[in-house]
Amino acid sequence: MVTAMSGDRARTALAGTRFARIDWVDETGSTNADLLAGVAADGDVGERVLVAEHQTAGRGRLGRTWEAPPGTSLLFSVLLRPGLPVESLHLVTMAVALAASDACEAVAGVRPRLKWPNDLVVVGADGATRKLAGILAESVVRDGAVAALVVGTGINVNWPRDPAELAAIATALDHHAGSEVDREDLLVAILRGFDSILAALGEPGGAAALLMRYRHLSATLGRRVRVELASGALEGVAVDVADDGHLLVELGGEVVSVAAGDVVHLRPA
Ligand code: BTN
Repeated sequence: MVTAMSGDRARTALAGTRFARIDWVDETGSTNADLLAGVAADGDVGERVLVAEHQTAGRGRLGRTWEAPPGTSLLFSVLLRPGLPVESLHLVTMAVALAASDACEAVAGVRPRLKWPNDLVVVGADGATRKLAGILAESVVRDGAVAALVVGTGINVNWPRDPAELAAIATALDHHAGSEVDREDLLVAILRGFDSILAALGEPGGAAALLMRYRHLSATLGRRVRVELASGALEGVAVDVADDGHLLVELGGEVVSVAAGDVVHLRPA
């Protein structure tokens, strides 16, 4: 069953936080694209959240598309004025990933782990990781400073049936919770958590605490991985996530720092 969200409960629950302004639409191309277009049209818009029941041109990382049947997912983007230097923006994306993982546990009793850079995954008993959610951050940089940051999240929440062609690589929250999950409750929990993590980031030690939690929840660290880069692939062991958000991969006694790429978790030999 697909239950459309009205957004009224979320607006009430988030009144007084930086995410009080929430717009809901039945359909759009991409919530990220819409918020970025708003920044381009009116450079001074404040923080806001846009949720869509369906996207016709959802964007994924590395130029991919993001597709989800109407009403089955939580698809939303947040527009922020983070006041952070460009090199610290990864902290905001990590903060959304942590808040989303915390919210899945609080609302659905499921604790997703984090696959570098910012996927939420469920790790099976066989060690296989299935993608539950993806996050795409896009920034508007003016004069070397971040004028606006749009962070978009797509979470597979209620899949009416198991799409067999995806079963090996993707999953939905309701399959692990054992029953349908309320997407509006999930949104509220994510945005509340994100609001508190952002507040903590402004305090001394906030970034270090965030990175520590990120590493703790990582499903990538300690694993053999293949990293697919534009220049080719490399295989090694993921040993750490550096303070700049890069993945550190050890291969042949050397540690390579990876800024962006696709990671495949390899099964132990
Ligand atoms: C990924 O490739 O894993 C990132 C996927 C991000 C998808 C979300 S859905 C809401 C927001 N709007 C978009 O167009 N993309 C993001």
